[in-house]
Amino acid sequence: MNRLVYAVILASGKGERMNCGFPKQFIEIAGKTIIERSIEAFEKNSGIDKIIVVSEPSHIKKITEIVENSGFKKVTKIVPGGATRFESSSHGVNEIAEDDAKVLIHDAARPFVSQRIIDDCISALDSSDAVHTAIKATDTIIEAENGKMAATTERSRMMQVQTPQGFMASVIKKAHANAKKDGFAGATDDCGIVFKYGLADICIVEGERTNIKITYPEDIAFAGIIAENK
Ligand code: CTP
Ligand code: MG
Repeated sequence: MNRLVYAVILASGKGERMNCGFPKQFIEIAGKTIIERSIEAFEKNSGIDKIIVVSEPSHIKKITEIVENSGFKKVTKIVPGGATRFESSSHGVNEIAEDDAKVLIHDAARPFVSQRIIDDCISALDSSDAVHTAIKATDTIIEAENGKMAATTERSRMMQVQTPQGFMASVIKKAHANAKKDGFAGATDDCGIVFKYGLADICIVEGERTNIKITYPEDIAFAGIIAENK
């Protein structure tokens, strides 16, 4: 069965850690804004049918212009986000009417997601109801509490998560509804919510070290190098 495949692109953050006076998704990297690059990655993937962009309300007009000027044809909706990433993600996912659709939720702040990662996430949803993108941790991770080391972890078992995170629409909608009911709105990771409620086995697609989330000012220089070499 050919299921519809949606991409939900989260672009409603304020970019406080970037601290550049406007949301970081509008920063230009080698001549193209971050949001334009993120949408383009999904627009050009033949496995993606429709794109929903989630935007801070006052920037919907600006994103509409970017979509029109870039000639993106798959963007069917640009909807307002919420106060947290979780709320923005819920707003996007709840726009999907078909419970049997596949949905890939992606941070607009990760403009260098590769076609291979998108392809692998879509394929993984043929045999799994949820998929995470992750890379092996390079640094050793510890748990900390009140400024003190609280636990060690085994680096070989640790992974750093990226996006996209993919789901059958029914699964992520149920996870969000549960989390909303339980007041779990601070979650920054959709797979984490699905895991918490035990709603699916979550398989892992290998991410890439260049699939960075542009977060701090010093990330811009590396982003420029990635853009030039793409
Ligand atoms: N995001 C969103 N709605 C929010 C918060 C975040 O759509 N209320 C999106 C961001 O636009 C980004 C992604 O979620 O694409 C990952 O969030 P993050 O990197 O934390 O971005 P910001 O929240 O914008 O940055 P900061 O935390 O530094 O303010
Ligand atoms: Mg944030």
